[in-house]
Amino acid sequence: MRNFIISIRGGRPLAGDVAVAGAKNAALPELAAVCLASEALELANVPQVEDIRVMVAALRALGAEGQGEDIVLDGPQGRRVRLAMPQLRTPLVSPEVARTTRASVLLLGPMLARCGEARVSMPGGCPIGERKIDFHLLGLERMGAEIRAEGEYLVARCRRLRGIDFTFPGKTVTGTENLLMAAALAEGTTVLRNCAREPEVADLAALLAGMGADIEADGEETWVVRGRAALHGARHRVIPDRIEAGTYLIAGCFAGNDVRVKGVMPAHLGSLLETLAAMGADIQVGAGEFHACGGRALRPAAVVTEPYPGFPTDLQAQLTTLLTQAEGVSRVRETIFNDRFRHVNELKRLGADIEVRGDEALVRGGARLHGAVLRTTDLRASAALVLGGLAASGETRIENAYQLFRGYEDMPGKLQALGAEIAIEEE
Ligand code: EPU
Repeated sequence: MRNFIISIRGGRPLAGDVAVAGAKNAALPELAAVCLASEALELANVPQVEDIRVMVAALRALGAEGQGEDIVLDGPQGRRVRLAMPQLRTPLVSPEVARTTRASVLLLGPMLARCGEARVSMPGGCPIGERKIDFHLLGLERMGAEIRAEGEYLVARCRRLRGIDFTFPGKTVTGTENLLMAAALAEGTTVLRNCAREPEVADLAALLAGMGADIEADGEETWVVRGRAALHGARHRVIPDRIEAGTYLIAGCFAGNDVRVKGVMPAHLGSLLETLAAMGADIQVGAGEFHACGGRALRPAAVVTEPYPGFPTDLQAQLTTLLTQAEGVSRVRETIFNDRFRHVNELKRLGADIEVRGDEALVRGGARLHGAVLRTTDLRASAALVLGGLAASGETRIENAYQLFRGYEDMPGKLQALGAEIAIEEE
């Protein structure tokens, strides 16, 4: 596998426009939905990131045909992927795919619904703590699937899935998406309660409706899906990536000299905007864009990650970097994943003063950061370290930077365009 080192010479002011790509975590389930119909799905605004490439490759191995391997179909609607699954050749997701992206678990529901069989290697992805899929399995079993472990594979079989009334025992984003897709082709009506409310879930539901699914929201956490015998092809534009948008907004808050983050949906980032405003950051929210300037003294914050609309765990690491630049002691509690502070030790190498106590990080802000050699372990931690490198004086090198490209489209290029001194080399 190709890997990369990112080197950054920090302290440069950032200015100008940065355009946000489509949301990785919306495009992934939407690609999995290719399994649900024999006609083509055409997705626009698909981000060019590694997790998407791996998902497209997995779909091809399942029998998907069409354009999409290189995701370079640039057009007026942005990057498009057009894929059809006339037949599910072999309902199998290999360990190579599952190790790279955990989103491979999203193929389980659609494969079962389409052909009554699925073999999925146990998902890998970011090492950010225990990431269970028991709620996905419980729901699918209740719908009639028999699921067992065979070596490193989960093997699931069913006749036609049947509709159920199911309450998720806890909030799960991909679990909600998996069951929504399964329910779309199940026999009878499925009611899913205590569903995740992330915008990516609603975007998937919009795509499914476009494919002919009978799906409607009943309040904010319940979906009612009346199963259909078949779905058809559709065209859909993926929503903007709120996590990418938030990452550049945070960068603008300490290094910005008028950074404009374009093509965003501000409503998807309410909790981040509230936090930054309370810190005294200089940000303005326009129609589909954010403006951010650094230079203001920032106040510390107390942040707790929560399911949407709470503060997103996927921005916790990046915010932690920003908090090293605030005056005073901040607290960051991580409640979604049990091992998502791996960026902290690396930020400490830059001179940050952070102490982790259980599920909480205490950030004593105001330390002057200096360049160092860092090693990243997961996607969002990588972004946090890049931000750290931008804030630090001197040179920072980030090893294992492959992780960044799993979910950020050309982050070095976008930051260069804003004036950052940043380069990538092959490791
Ligand atoms: N959980 C269970 N049982 C389940 C499912 C989840 O106990 O069956 C627990 C997990 O162990 C975790 C929590 O519930 O502690 C939340 O997990 P969730 O299932 O919501 O996470 P996910 O669906 O695996 C998605 C995103 C993540 C993001 C989380 C939380 C995708 C492809 N991934 O993961 O994105 O952090 O929701 O918002 O949508 C990222 O993009 O960097 C990333 C990790």
